[in-house]
Amino acid sequence: MGWFAERAALDGTVALVTGGAGGLGEAIVTDLAANGVRMAVIDIDAEAVESVRGALDKNGGEAIVQHGDARDPEALAALFTAVDQRWGRLDTLVNVVGGTFRKPFVETSPKAWDALLRTNLLHVLHACSLAAPRMRAGGRGGSIINLTTIEAHRAAPGFAVYAAAKAAVEHFGRTLAVELAPDNIRVNNVAPDMIITPNLTKFGMGTSSVGTPLGQRVGIPMGRLGEVTDVSGCVVFLASGLSSFVTGTTLHPDGGTYASSGWFNWPDSGWANHAPRSVLEQFAPGGQPEE
Ligand SMILES: NC(=O)c1ccc[n+]([C@@H]2O[C@H](COP(=O)([O-])OP(=O)(O)OC[C@H]3O[C@@H](n4cnc5c(N)ncnc54)[C@H](O)[C@@H]3O)[C@@H](O)[C@H]2O)c1
Repeated sequence: MGWFAERAALDGTVALVTGGAGGLGEAIVTDLAANGVRMAVIDIDAEAVESVRGALDKNGGEAIVQHGDARDPEALAALFTAVDQRWGRLDTLVNVVGGTFRKPFVETSPKAWDALLRTNLLHVLHACSLAAPRMRAGGRGGSIINLTTIEAHRAAPGFAVYAAAKAAVEHFGRTLAVELAPDNIRVNNVAPDMIITPNLTKFGMGTSSVGTPLGQRVGIPMGRLGEVTDVSGCVVFLASGLSSFVTGTTLHPDGGTYASSGWFNWPDSGWANHAPRSVLEQFAPGGQPEE
């Protein structure tokens, strides 16, 4: 066994991933399994479930892959019970499920707020309440990793309730990290931005300026969109012994967008936290930009 595998100590551990059959979840499952982790997965997409089950089987990994809705407490509990029966241990929980739509807050309804809280916050509470006692009883510690977003750390016009729900996950995670620290159970967040997944393309990534090399240079300090492995690498690190003293914090796989927070790398004029005159003049040619 090499240095990395020995320090990571993932081989033979057990991880449960919600939303683990597509997008970021699939990459996380693939990369944990590649490090010898036994996988339990729940996903709402029946086709993706079949595909991930086939891929895990093909690579000889041990896995339980269930088709179900992570927002349903009974479906979640059934997966945890299946893990108890099959392996009798749980080392890692990764809460991937989340999602939103774009609309100004005043045009949204209580029904929509409820749906956003269910999709982004409540199942995280359920999953953590199922995982923590099991990890504690196992006596080996554990790692809980919640997928949040850059929008949990800044204003997000059109995404107010999603951003609030993800910020709630972040803060819940900090408190849980402290409560569970004496049991060596770590709780951390991963807050991605600009990662290409089918979900992100729903928000017009293909047609917006960040779909172009120039748009990426202006809006993303590292000058490129993220790959799913930019996120799964963070999750593998947080699940592993390499992060054994890291708890209650957040990793930001975002190419620097959180750090730059409003600063853009404009062609010609370089970094600025406002649009250069040459850009504004396109909207008011030859004259003063509109007030
Ligand atoms: N892609 C990005 O750049 C990005 C940016 C910020 C935050 N995130 C967050 O990362 C997470 C994953 O994002 P993604 O782009 O991979 O999303 P995605 O929509 O591709 O979802 C990942 C998987 O979750 C499954 N899923 C969705 N709802 C489910 C449910 N109720 N029960 C079980 N499975 C369900 C989907 O079928 C899919 O396989 C989300 O929490 C999202 O808010 C992503």
